[in-house]
Amino acid sequence: MESKDRIFEEIRLAEEKLPLINRDSFRQGFHLMPPVGWLNDPNGLCQCRGEYNVFFQYSPKNPNGGEKYWGHYKSSDLIRWKYMGVPLVTDTVWDADGVYSGSGLAEGDKLHIFYTGNVKLKDGDYDYITSGRQTNVVYSNDSGYEKKLLIGWDEYPEGYTCHIRDPKVWKENGKYYMVLGARRLDDRGAVLLYESERPDRDWRFLKEITTAEKFGYMWECPDVFRLGEKTVLSVSPQGVKNEEYRLQNIYQSGYFLSDKSIFEDYMPEGFEEWDYGFDFYAPQTFRDDRGRRILIGWVGMPDADYTNPTAEKGWQNCLSVPRILEYKNGRIYQSPAEELEALRLEEREIKAGECFEAEKADIIITDIEGDFYANIREAVDITYKEGIFEIRLKSFGRTSRKLRLDRLKSLRLLCDSSVIEIYINEGEYVMTSMFYTKSRSSLIGSGRIRLYEMKNMEVCYR
Ligand code: FRU
Repeated sequence: MESKDRIFEEIRLAEEKLPLINRDSFRQGFHLMPPVGWLNDPNGLCQCRGEYNVFFQYSPKNPNGGEKYWGHYKSSDLIRWKYMGVPLVTDTVWDADGVYSGSGLAEGDKLHIFYTGNVKLKDGDYDYITSGRQTNVVYSNDSGYEKKLLIGWDEYPEGYTCHIRDPKVWKENGKYYMVLGARRLDDRGAVLLYESERPDRDWRFLKEITTAEKFGYMWECPDVFRLGEKTVLSVSPQGVKNEEYRLQNIYQSGYFLSDKSIFEDYMPEGFEEWDYGFDFYAPQTFRDDRGRRILIGWVGMPDADYTNPTAEKGWQNCLSVPRILEYKNGRIYQSPAEELEALRLEEREIKAGECFEAEKADIIITDIEGDFYANIREAVDITYKEGIFEIRLKSFGRTSRKLRLDRLKSLRLLCDSSVIEIYINEGEYVMTSMFYTKSRSSLIGSGRIRLYEMKNMEVCYR
């Protein structure tokens, strides 16, 4: 059998376990998951021919990760999804050890795809940081998924380790631009900017972008876009020092805001995190035909010391709900796409201080004054006291995450079977975490509480 046929046969066999895996009570109702096995970064997010495309890093054969392919979901309304299978696998010399992260660019009816092909050399004494790894930028598109080498591993500028990856491409004033995340030889994270007149050839290196002071050793998954008057550079840095009230995870993801465009004399400063919870990394954004800037992240955290019991059931991780971004009050506010409201069942008013039962729910708490306390499904403690907002969990190694907050006015809790997304003050801050409990019983201490039980999204597997 040819290697490509063999890979597809292995995927087919792995995906035969889907009906069994879907019986796991921790499977999510309104978060996209791997059909089977492992999922990490969202990839190729875009709207093309009216349909939303969500590709994702996918290891169907191994719930703990392994060889990465691109899986693919499509939807016309963000709540009814169709699984399209695995369009990109490790079948060329440019991507033999992983079809890594990348982006999609819709142009008319065309969907251009850019990704990193990862190649690991064998038979040698390599550290796979400065030697033994080749990463190539590969082009493809969704009419046939043929592959073409765009930037070879030996064509990058001097001064970098082998860690250069995750192309994000956009079009501006008739030209195409690409950012890549990189680890410099002096162990500093940076972004490389490229340009071209054609998406599928002739990419030229323009410049490096990095902070004045070192901010971690590697920046993964860069993204650049305009939001209102601001230029946003989003990156997922590794090697940033932890602090008590921010930057608490092993790796971070967040953004730099600027009044300047990245083509000017631009220097990123003032990093702000996308999410203060345990499980959020490698987000990517796109603009839809309604002009909304939509962000989706990976609900997961690489190399963390906490785990997920679902791995034993044959699957792990999910994506965040699509979040609409808005710039106001000097930061980016995030709110779940309105489409999710179609999954709400009837509204229930809950009294503060009373226990109530619900599993999948969208809970809105307004009119919060002073301190606050809630316990969600006997697993997630949420407190606000003395200017500190904190979530506490006892869930497979997850402990506490905190942030400083002048005032807590409102909360929106999106509780799925085993993930909670907490939107604080209309999305001024967000905290996302996996949590595992069978309990359906919750208590919310104060405020006006409205609860909608949520039905599942429709996900159609072939
Ligand atoms: C981020 C990341 C990317 C890489 C991909 C591989 O989570 O490490 O930098 O392309 O995952 O799965």
